[in-house]
Amino acid sequence: MLLPMSKTNKSSKSQNLVSNLLHTLRPNSKSSKSSKASSTANITMATTSLVGKTAIVTGSSRSIGAAIARALGAEGANVVVNYVSDAGAAEEVVKSIKATGKGDAIAVKANAGTVEGGKSLIDAAVAKWQRLDILVLNAGIMGSKNLADVDEEFFDSHIQTNVKAPLFTVKHALQHLTAGGRIIFFSSSLTYATGVLPNALSYVASKGAVEQISRVLAKDVGARGITVNTVSPGPVDTPLFRTGKPQQVIDFISKQNPNGRLGLPEDIAPTVAFIASPAAQWLNGQNIRVNGGFTV
Ligand SMILES: NC(=O)c1ccc[n+]([C@@H]2O[C@H](COP(=O)([O-])OP(=O)(O)OC[C@H]3O[C@@H](n4cnc5c(N)ncnc54)[C@H](OP(=O)(O)O)[C@@H]3O)[C@@H](O)[C@H]2O)c1
Repeated sequence: MLLPMSKTNKSSKSQNLVSNLLHTLRPNSKSSKSSKASSTANITMATTSLVGKTAIVTGSSRSIGAAIARALGAEGANVVVNYVSDAGAAEEVVKSIKATGKGDAIAVKANAGTVEGGKSLIDAAVAKWQRLDILVLNAGIMGSKNLADVDEEFFDSHIQTNVKAPLFTVKHALQHLTAGGRIIFFSSSLTYATGVLPNALSYVASKGAVEQISRVLAKDVGARGITVNTVSPGPVDTPLFRTGKPQQVIDFISKQNPNGRLGLPEDIAPTVAFIASPAAQWLNGQNIRVNGGFTV
C-alpha cells in the first residue's frame, strides 16, 4: 500500500539531492573526478577520416563525381571510380587518388543507369576490398523538353537512370553495408527553386522521386546504423549543365547565385565527403542543398 510521503521524508530526500549535486560540482570531490572520467570515456568525437572505408561513386570519371571520388580518396577511402565511356578520364582520377598516398582506387566500367550495372559496381568493390561502406549515387541524366515534346521513351529514360537504377543498386548494396554505412543520393536544387523552367519536367520529376526514396530509406535502414541522405547541388559548371544552353542563359543562371557564378564540382565534393564520414553519424534523412545560396 502506498503511504503519503511525510514532510520529513520529503525534505530529507531533497536535501540528499542537493548535497549530491554539490558534491558532484565540487572540483576536488571523488565523485566529481569519476563522473568526469566516465563522461569523457563515453563521448568520443567522431572523425572525418575515411581510412579503411570502401566507397563507390557512380559516374565519377568527370565532373561532380570525379571531384567526389578525389575528396573521398584524400580522406583515405578506397574508391571505385565508375565510368561508362571515358576509360582514360577514369584512369586519371584513379591515378590522382593513388598519388595522394592515402586512399586506393580502381576504375570500373559499368552503366550505372541499369540495375545490372549498379550491381556489378558493388560486386567489384567487394571483390577488391571485401567490404562496402559508402555508396554515392551520383550518375544521372538531365534531358530538356517541355511536356508537348516529352514522349514515353524520354520520360522513362529519366526514371530508369535517375530513380530505378540507383534504388536497386542500393538494394544490392544493403547486402554488404553494415553499421556506419553511408548512402548518398543525388537530387537537384531545382526541386526547390521557384525559377524552375518547363523543360526541366522529366528531370525534376525524377529527382523529386529520389528525394522521397532517400527520406523513406533513412527510416528503414537507419535502424541498422546506416545513414541515407540526399545532396542537391545548384547549377554546377559541368557538361550536364552546359549542354544545350546558350551562353546568355548560362550567364542569367549564374547571376541568380549571390556569388554571381556557377558552382564547381569542388564546391560540392567536400560536403559529400563529410556526409560519408563517421563525424556525420547523426545526419540522416536530410536533403542538403549545396548551392552557394542559389535557393534559400
Ligand atoms: N551539373 C549541375 O548543374 C547539377 C545540378 C544539380 C544536380 N546535379 C546532379 O549531379 C549529378 C552529377 O552531375 P554532373 O553535372 O557531374 O554530370 P555529368 O557532367 O554528366 O557527369 C558525367 C559523369 O557521369 C558519368 N556517367 C554518365 N552516365 C553514366 C552511366 N550511365 N553510368 C556510369 N557513369 C555515367 C560519365 O562517365 P563517362 O566519362 O564515361 O561518360 C562522367 O563521369 C547528377 O545526378 C546530376 O543530376 C548536377
